Amino acid sequence: MPDILIAPSILSADFAKLGEEVCAIDEAGADWIHIDVMDGHFVPNLTIGPAVVKALRPHTQKPFDVHLMISPVDPFLDAFAESGADIITVHPEAGPHLHRTIQRVKSLGKKAGVSLNPATPAKALDYVLEEIDLVLVMSVNPGFGGQKFIASQLRKIEAIASRITKENLDVRLEVDGGIDPATAPQAISAGADVLVAGTAAFRDGPASYAANIEALRGHR
Ligand code: DX5
Ligand code: ZN
Repeated sequence: MPDILIAPSILSADFAKLGEEVCAIDEAGADWIHIDVMDGHFVPNLTIGPAVVKALRPHTQKPFDVHLMISPVDPFLDAFAESGADIITVHPEAGPHLHRTIQRVKSLGKKAGVSLNPATPAKALDYVLEEIDLVLVMSVNPGFGGQKFIASQLRKIEAIASRITKENLDVRLEVDGGIDPATAPQAISAGADVLVAGTAAFRDGPASYAANIEALRGHR
C-alpha cells in the first residue's frame, strides 16, 4: 500500500495571512497543499484565482494540488499551470470533452486529476482512468468546508481502489470533505491514499497544525 499523504485545504486557513499559513502547514508536515478554486457557478461559493496561487508559490516547495471547481474549466488551465500548480484536478461536468481537458493538462507538464461529486458514479472514469494521475472522490458536495462526511462515498472509493489495483495503474486515490480523525481511517480502509482536510488540519491555530496532521495519519 502506498504511503498515506495529507493534503491540507487552505480553504480553512486564515485568508488574511495566507503566505504564513502555507509555511506553517508545510512545516507541520503537510505532504501536498490543497487549493480549492471556486467560481460561484459550478459551486455556490467564490474563492481564489491564479494570481493568489502564484503569490503563494514562493512560500513552499510542497506540491500544489489545485482542485478546480469552475465551469467552463478549459479557459483557465493554462493560467493555473503557469501560476505554479503541480496537480490540476477537474470535474467531468466542467467541460464538454473530459479526455481533451486531461490531455491539455498533461501537455502543460502537470499531473492530471479527475474529481467525482457525491452523485457522480465511478463509471465517469471509464476511458480516462488510465490517462490520469489522481482520482479525487468528493465526500461532501463541493463548495464549502466544514460539512459532514457522506458515508456512501466509501463504496465508491472501494470500487475505484479495486479497479486501480486490478489494472495495475499508477493513480493516487484522494478523498475530500469531512475528513477528521474519525473518518480518515474509514477512507484509508476503503482504499484512499491521499486525505484532504480543511477544518481538521487548520483547527486551533498554527501551534496545533502538526498534531492535527498526525491525528489524521492515525498517530496521536
Ligand atoms: C469543498 C472542498 C474541500 C474542503 C474540505 O468543496 O473541495 O477541499 O475545503 O473542507 P473540510 O475538510 O472542512 O470538509
Ligand atoms: Zn477540494
